[in-house]
Amino acid sequence: MKIPRRSSLQVLAAAVFAPLSFLPKLSLAQIVKLKATPQDVEGPYYPTTWNGEVDNDLTTLNGKKYTGGIPMTLRGRVRGDSGEILKDARVEIWQIDDVGEYRHPGFGGEKPAQRGFQGYGWMQTDDGGQYTFQTIKPIGYSGRPPHVHFKVIAPGYITLITEMYFAGENAEGSLYQRLFGGFSRERDLLSISPNRLSLGKAETLDAVFDIVLARL
Ligand SMILES: [Fe+2]
Repeated sequence: MKIPRRSSLQVLAAAVFAPLSFLPKLSLAQIVKLKATPQDVEGPYYPTTWNGEVDNDLTTLNGKKYTGGIPMTLRGRVRGDSGEILKDARVEIWQIDDVGEYRHPGFGGEKPAQRGFQGYGWMQTDDGGQYTFQTIKPIGYSGRPPHVHFKVIAPGYITLITEMYFAGENAEGSLYQRLFGGFSRERDLLSISPNRLSLGKAETLDAVFDIVLARL
């Protein structure tokens, strides 16, 4: 029997599109896959304790303001790799100070804290997935470029351990470290350019480092 042309098109369309009607409706956020922030090395100076004053203001310790270094606001938003905002994610940072010491038994011990720099801190993201730290710009040391270490933890997501660098000064200084350091090959994705602000004569930095976690 000859099928009229119009009917055959309708049959064809029904055959092609019918299976799609069984698919669950996906939101744009579920279709768009963001690239997760690259993992980087933890390094040897992860804090040995999270007791005591470990808030998000590394420049105030025991009520006193630290005056060394270039003050830096370090902030950003934590999302999952489908674009979803992650509130109550735990964001930890640790870093060297402006003298060149970590607050760690294997480095400067408590010397940074004795000078008034907290050295590490953590906070939970707010309802908008935002975190903010008050800190200073770290200096480079032992051939390593300036960097801030991050650990970000959220239930249902792969814990991110990484380092944030500064664009234009993110190269490893020694061949040994370039070859054997095990650092992320995606360093440019971990590098930011802070806005430079002036408060009177003093320079301050506003650094934005947004983070994407991969779902477990
Ligand atoms: Fe480090």
